[in-house]
Amino acid sequence: MLLEVNNLNIEFYDHDLPERVVNDLNMKLDEGEILGIVGESGSGKSMTAMAIAGLLKRHDMKTEGEILFEGEELLHAKRDTLRQYQGNEISIVFQEPMTSLNPVKRIGWQVEESLRIHRPDLDSSERYRRAIEALRDVELDQPELIYKKYPHELSGGMRQRVMIASAMICEPKLLIADEPTTALDVTIQLQIVKLLQRLNREKHTTILFISHDLSLVRRLCSRIIVMQNGIVVETGTTEDIFHNPVQEYTRMLINAIPKLEKPVI
Ligand SMILES: Nc1ncnc2c1ncn2[C@@H]1O[C@H](COP(=O)(O)OP(=O)(O)O)[C@@H](O)[C@H]1O
Ligand SMILES: [Mg+2]
Repeated sequence: MLLEVNNLNIEFYDHDLPERVVNDLNMKLDEGEILGIVGESGSGKSMTAMAIAGLLKRHDMKTEGEILFEGEELLHAKRDTLRQYQGNEISIVFQEPMTSLNPVKRIGWQVEESLRIHRPDLDSSERYRRAIEALRDVELDQPELIYKKYPHELSGGMRQRVMIASAMICEPKLLIADEPTTALDVTIQLQIVKLLQRLNREKHTTILFISHDLSLVRRLCSRIIVMQNGIVVETGTTEDIFHNPVQEYTRMLINAIPKLEKPVI
């Protein structure tokens, strides 16, 4: 078991009434698996992802429960402990690569960031070698050229590949991809999904793939968690979810897939 989330509750306090955005969530992730979280916008997917990535330490919220990563509790761990995991054992890729990338820094410098933090033993030539390898791993042609470019010189799909390269450079055990393809064209979306599939197969990276797009989740994931209003309403293998959805809500999400996009399985 790589990750176990037990009775996770997340509440906001910045309004008069506390608002519970994740309610008693339980999930498990085995090493090497690709798990999907689906649900309409506002269902608590990103909050769950941020909690697992250790990014929810904020004064305006309260969290309960536990997040066990290889048995170690991370939800209420100290910031210093979390920093050892972030970008190292656990990485996260967000929807909009332009906002995650620093516009005034070259791509190479940004891809090397986690190495500078977690691998101070490596010298700059070794960092360079690994950055080039990471850029090649995400199927970017001419990585030596990409290394020297700035984010605005790349297309959206290339920027998302750069984000994945940055997330993968320390070879994390868990990669969380939160709507990583939502801002991209359909053909590029498929390429990114295939890339994640390959990284999972070749590097055995466990992936938590969050999307409101069930057709992509169906291609990529072996198990699916369905969330609605902060609650897990259904969970099962991808087969089960698509062939025997129990909840009306899940059926609605499946029916919302445009017919032409439904992959044949
Ligand atoms: N700062 C905040 N204060 C109060 N509620 C928030 C805040 N940020 C997000 N939320 C609420 O948390 C809920 C879950 O959000 P999120 O996890 O981002 O949903 P999803 O990723 O599934 O679209 C939403 O209803 C959203 O309105
Ligand atoms: Mg979200």
